[in-house]
Amino acid sequence: MSVLSGKKILLGISGGIAAYKTAHLVRLFIKAGAHIQVIMTPASKDFITPLTLSTLSKNQVYSDFFNEDDKEAMWNNHVDLALWADLFIIAPATANTMSKMANGNCDNLLIATYLSAKCPVYFAPAMDLDMYKHPSTLSSFSKLKQFGNTIIPAESGELASGLSGEGRMAEPENIVSFLENDLLSKLPLKGKKILITAGPTYEAIDPVRFIGNHSSGKMGYDIAEEAANKGAEVILVSGPSNQVLKDNSIQLIKVVSAQEMYDACHANFENVDVAIAAAAVADYRPKNVASQKIKKQETNLTIELEKTQDILATLGEKKRNQFLIGFALETENEIENAIGKIKKKNLDLIVLNSLNDKGAGFGHSTNKVTFIDKNFKELPMDLKSKEAVAQDIVNIIIKHYEK
Ligand code: CTP
Repeated sequence: MSVLSGKKILLGISGGIAAYKTAHLVRLFIKAGAHIQVIMTPASKDFITPLTLSTLSKNQVYSDFFNEDDKEAMWNNHVDLALWADLFIIAPATANTMSKMANGNCDNLLIATYLSAKCPVYFAPAMDLDMYKHPSTLSSFSKLKQFGNTIIPAESGELASGLSGEGRMAEPENIVSFLENDLLSKLPLKGKKILITAGPTYEAIDPVRFIGNHSSGKMGYDIAEEAANKGAEVILVSGPSNQVLKDNSIQLIKVVSAQEMYDACHANFENVDVAIAAAAVADYRPKNVASQKIKKQETNLTIELEKTQDILATLGEKKRNQFLIGFALETENEIENAIGKIKKKNLDLIVLNSLNDKGAGFGHSTNKVTFIDKNFKELPMDLKSKEAVAQDIVNIIIKHYEK
């Protein structure tokens, strides 16, 4: 999945011959899963039609402060457009448009929107080779960089003038990969490795039966997706679950029993920065697993159970610098019990679900949690979707590394 997926991209087109390539650029953004709105300078409409771009972007294209054909219609609000965007890309950025951007010369909708934008701004210059090297152009580059805007450097090759050299707008494919690489390198969990457990475990009784639980695995999978979205390298150790991962960069290790989950976690723990135990691991397993299917008995059947190892507690014993997060599902003395687990399992954070809260725990798409840190500071949260709880957990990890 592209890092541009779901991103709201505002594409500003200024009047150079490279504008014809923006049709392809819009297609590539759409293919990457982004939402696109286009603003054109009046001059750019000589190089590509608004109809082409509105068809490809599936949105109205903006060019003027007012709709020329319908004077009664609403003013095109540049502030709304600017605030809508997660990213603003000006491509092609002509010498004229860059100079206006650098000097606040606000005589068209594109520049007004640029001046209102709070999101990251990228610009892809396009001009003839001598214009590209002119001190005035270089001064625009340097001012725009000072403003925090990012240049997508022009490429070398044949130019519209017939000359050959630096000044061609970066090819649409290269603009997309430039943006993807730039966004990936700035993700807050870039370089961090995170181990997550999820789902139930099944403990075999005989070849056809097991002891299991109702955990869906959703909480752990949501955390895995969110951590990967924020740039982390994720290893997800999952018990039997029907959840499907959207992000194929996540390394999925499928296990069945508590022992297999234990082995997979310990094989990876040493190399990770963070471990999150979201799995509902069986605390007990049959002491002897029958090699053949157990036949019906005349009377009751007794199965002797033995304790499984507490994966989280053993990770807590092994812990060096890892940030270790556990879950607790409690029905009484919630805070006290959760704090007991922080101490016993050597945790940095516990995510407490109270079954007394409506909509929390197993079988719900929502969760109501209280975070308790290693200093026993409590942070109660509202009832939220599990995706939103996953975001909160990942934000705590991000904050931990910002310190
Ligand atoms: N956990 C684990 N391995 C186990 C049991 C639990 O890694 N064998 C982890 C869970 O993933 C969870 C945390 O430990 O993060 C808390 O589990 P929980 O079952 O609530 O607590 P227990 O320590 O098992 O205590 P109790 O059942 O008495 O509440």
